[in-house]
Amino acid sequence: MTEIRFAAPALPKDGALVLPMAEGATPAGLAGSGLAAQVDRALSGRLKAALKAARFTGKKGQTATLLAPGAGLSRVIAVGLGKAAELTEDGIEAAGGTAMAALLAGADAAGAIAADLPQGAPKGIDAAGFAARLALGARLRSYRFDRYRTTEKPEDKPALKAVAVLAADAARAKAAYAPLARIADGVFITRDLVSEPPNVLNPAAMAERCRALSKLGVKVEVMGPRELRRLGFTTLLAVAQGSANEARVVVMRWNGTKGGGRKGKGAGGPVAFVGKGVTFDTGGISIKPAAGMEDMKWDMAGAGAVVGLMAALAGRRAKVDVVGIVGLVENMPSGTAQRPGDVVKSYSGQTIEVLNTDAEGRLVLADCLWYCQERFKPRFMVDLATLTGAIIISLGHENAGLFANDDTLAAQIIAAGKATGEECWRMPLGDAYDKQLKSDIADMKNIGGRPGGSITAAQFLQRFVNKVPWAHLDIAGVAWQGKDKPAVPKGATAFGVRLLDRLVAEHYEGR
Ligand code: BES
Ligand code: MN
Ligand code: ZN
Repeated sequence: MTEIRFAAPALPKDGALVLPMAEGATPAGLAGSGLAAQVDRALSGRLKAALKAARFTGKKGQTATLLAPGAGLSRVIAVGLGKAAELTEDGIEAAGGTAMAALLAGADAAGAIAADLPQGAPKGIDAAGFAARLALGARLRSYRFDRYRTTEKPEDKPALKAVAVLAADAARAKAAYAPLARIADGVFITRDLVSEPPNVLNPAAMAERCRALSKLGVKVEVMGPRELRRLGFTTLLAVAQGSANEARVVVMRWNGTKGGGRKGKGAGGPVAFVGKGVTFDTGGISIKPAAGMEDMKWDMAGAGAVVGLMAALAGRRAKVDVVGIVGLVENMPSGTAQRPGDVVKSYSGQTIEVLNTDAEGRLVLADCLWYCQERFKPRFMVDLATLTGAIIISLGHENAGLFANDDTLAAQIIAAGKATGEECWRMPLGDAYDKQLKSDIADMKNIGGRPGGSITAAQFLQRFVNKVPWAHLDIAGVAWQGKDKPAVPKGATAFGVRLLDRLVAEHYEGR
């Protein structure tokens, strides 16, 4: 993963140079005093000519590459920013990501990105912020999970070691980037967790990864089966009982306000995030088909996002009190596994008829949500879970499903999603859906039938939430992606880390 640094805007003597350019800025940008103009002069006008030949206009996402252009440079790569007046932070990050992908594709060990703020950019975006967002996008795109590759040939490995972001005020750009780099660290922690194979990352191993956050000042408590049984996490343990790998629940706390941990004071309590951490979901006795079952290694992506989010918030010393709780289990079929038809009494006291052991995430979350609100009296709870295949049918891979009992919280999450490119679409809740959970023998059953499958799953969760503002993000469609996006290489996305960091920063920090 490539090192990112900041430097003054001088024309590099060698390596590859990326020129982010706004739409229509060429050829104007090539006549001014910026780096693009300097490059064009150093190349005796060949940059201008090449961009014309490639029909490069600066449209968002467009790229044009000059190979061995002269002046010692190996490549010059123009990246389109779109219209200057329509620049957003997310759009700048995307350009940074596209820049990194282009740099990584070549043989260069060193690259540079020219961070010249385009003329006519919106007021909220200054030169330092522009450079910092380019750097964040580049950093995010540089992620690679190669821990288990032992025979990769050197020529197949990325050659790029360092990228310099060339900014007019490099010191200010570096300072603006510092907290963003901590967010990227959190994203990488999540991507690592989600990418790990399920034999390596079982509940105990994931709990150990959570413990590592204590070096950031996070207080970490790990609860094992004995303590969970004593406390009454019965439905979570019922999911875990078929596996030789025992359950864990991890409570992570970051107290970033001066008072520290103002727990139990209603509106003054911490904000809370709860994650589904099924380290592998076979379906249990209601076993899944073999094809594609390997995807269920990332059935802990909700928990993974909570861990990365805690790392991001602690890493950038966020002024907020926050609790992260992850329920870690493996859902296996065996002689000790729970059966379809079992009735279990949850931590809340409500009884559940388990009609399908593959609807296990809601059983894990039910106990964690109840425990969270009871112990911490949070200002709000947001849970993240790869909960249903049905949400993929509803929303595909473009939006997470958002369910909420609170319109303000929902609106804040939707806005934070737009700002970070982690988009959420609000889905309905209602009594008619809730009725689908009626059981003949217990307080509820754990499945609501095929119609509205992700909605009845959310209704189930809502039965374990009292008056506290609550939102549920069903991230089954967005936790993993099959193809590259500008700032997110294919594979684990860490969906939720940037979104929820933003939610906290915008509305809950320092207040
Ligand atoms: N982990 C799955 C949901 C899932 C499916 C996540 C595909 C990511 C990709 C969840 O535990 C599950 O199996 N849900 C069932 C619920 C059903 C039995 C009511 C489903 O969606 O089929
Ligand atoms: Mn399942
Ligand atoms: Zn699952």
